[in-house]
Amino acid sequence: MRGILLAGGSGTRLLPLTTINSKQLLPVYDKPLVYYPLSVLMLAGMREILIITSNLHHDSFRALLGDGSHLGLDIRYAYQNEPRGIAEALLIGRDFAGDEDVCLILGDNIFYGHGLPAILREAASTVDGCTVFGYPVSDPERYGVAVLDQEGRLTDIQEKPAAPSSNLAVTGLYLYSNDVLGHVEKISPSGRGELEITDVNRLLIKEDRARLVQLGRGVAWLDAGTHDSLLEASQYVQVLQKRQGLQIACLEETAFRMGYISMGQLGKLADRLSAGSEYGRHVRSLVRV
Ligand code: DAU
Repeated sequence: MRGILLAGGSGTRLLPLTTINSKQLLPVYDKPLVYYPLSVLMLAGMREILIITSNLHHDSFRALLGDGSHLGLDIRYAYQNEPRGIAEALLIGRDFAGDEDVCLILGDNIFYGHGLPAILREAASTVDGCTVFGYPVSDPERYGVAVLDQEGRLTDIQEKPAAPSSNLAVTGLYLYSNDVLGHVEKISPSGRGELEITDVNRLLIKEDRARLVQLGRGVAWLDAGTHDSLLEASQYVQVLQKRQGLQIACLEETAFRMGYISMGQLGKLADRLSAGSEYGRHVRSLVRV
């Protein structure tokens, strides 16, 4: 399975912060937002990752993450000139996917929780059609919302419904088997002029090839698409990191723990990080000589 991280869009809801900056490079407490979804792909076992950016910000992403080889990854880049919809990521990433399945993650989604890597790896190894991940929220009208039958099977997804059928938001993390990637060509732009990922998923529900995995209490899901949610995400990361003395979405640590880099390579990365930052001190503390 290959990972696609969608980090384009115009970030209009975050203006003026996004006048010159990409939304996915804005800070969430102590690190750029893109670190969080990237670490999720890494924890799910993906090493070949396509990052889709707007062409305005491409150089900044490349300066930050390079080709990923320092993290034992193969990071490639593609552009989306206009925000024509989340589903367009599957078209842009078609060649990159080759004959592999795809895990698509939105660059403003943050997931954190002890059981998450195992849930993702299990889901990735069994995907047939699409797998989406549901999360209970108090404001489902802001999201795609899962409609379930009495047995808890996914029967529909409503995109930002005025009167949601459930409190289960569909998160910005999607698994697709290779044979359904072409389904994007079967949908048309929505009223807001976008190729909606929800429309692709609804086609797969009709074909009985969609599965919902509910993320329970052990997992936190945050999006950072508004000023309030960006601030709340920072506060969440700050509280957890300070309380537990851990780092969330530390890419060097994740690469090491996943076996993508050796202790020697981790040591070289640590040398490059300043001991003046908590992040740098954390990476340095992992190195055993
Ligand atoms: O966060 C989960 C939600 O994401 C889902 O529940 C919804 O079903 C799904 O439609 C999406 O809703 P949003 O309206 O929040 O998506 P938004 O337009 O904000 O885009 C999400 C991210 O994807 C954002 O970081 C920008 C990026 N993006 C978006 C579009 C439309 C792109 O890179 N290119 C695009 O064309």
